[in-house]
Amino acid sequence: MAAKRKPLIAGNWKMNGLKKDVRALAGGLAKRMAMTKRPAFEMLICPPAPLLGFCVDAVKGSGVKIGAQDCHAAEHGAHTGDISAPLLKNMGCGYVIVGHSERRTDHSETDKEVKAKAEAALAAGLKVILCIGETLKERKAGQTLNVNRRQLRGSLPTGATAANTVIAYEPVWAIGTGQVATPAQTQQVHAAIRKLIKSKLGANEGDKMRILYGGSMKPGNATELMILPDVDGGLIGGASLSVADFWAIAEAA
Ligand code: PGA
Repeated sequence: MAAKRKPLIAGNWKMNGLKKDVRALAGGLAKRMAMTKRPAFEMLICPPAPLLGFCVDAVKGSGVKIGAQDCHAAEHGAHTGDISAPLLKNMGCGYVIVGHSERRTDHSETDKEVKAKAEAALAAGLKVILCIGETLKERKAGQTLNVNRRQLRGSLPTGATAANTVIAYEPVWAIGTGQVATPAQTQQVHAAIRKLIKSKLGANEGDKMRILYGGSMKPGNATELMILPDVDGGLIGGASLSVADFWAIAEAA
């Protein structure tokens, strides 16, 4: 990763965790973070929505940030069960993940919908983590770069800057499978993403925008990924449910 980009270590708890876990997990990370002098990384945790307020309280004053896993594209209204970006901001969130492959699959989210969600998040003053990534079938068909470029073109929010948007490359076949992308595979896609961002937003924004890797990142493989020139942190699922593992990944950054 380039020195000019501060790595972001983001934990995606997905649909895991109960109220009783907040103190150990969010509180445990907050304690370690608070003891770290001038940390070289930014740390974010994204718990399930009902735990957001508890997590905000648990990390208060530590520097650990809290984010949500999704938001609705509308500011408010008749959308039972959905959560608006202004409410997330109001709850103390700094970030929201949009376009995770599990939402693209489970809820049939399209690039257009993801873009609208990302724009709602930016309008509410949240930072966006925009996820893209190819399936194994697409990779085997030689479509990896095309798929990632198409998703990025289709879902990058209008108004995106390096300060308000982070891209997460998450090959679908690597998520939760224990099968991590190789450094060469990872760097190839990250470089293509950066090239496209530069062409869309200019060289300066493209240089500064952070691109995270996600998909079976663990303490054992974090270093080989973090040292790649275009990897600026990780979006971590399974390993973010352990303070020791998540912290070890952050230290690799
Ligand atoms: P994983 O999930 O680390 O469990 O593979 C990553 C993600 O889906 O964000």
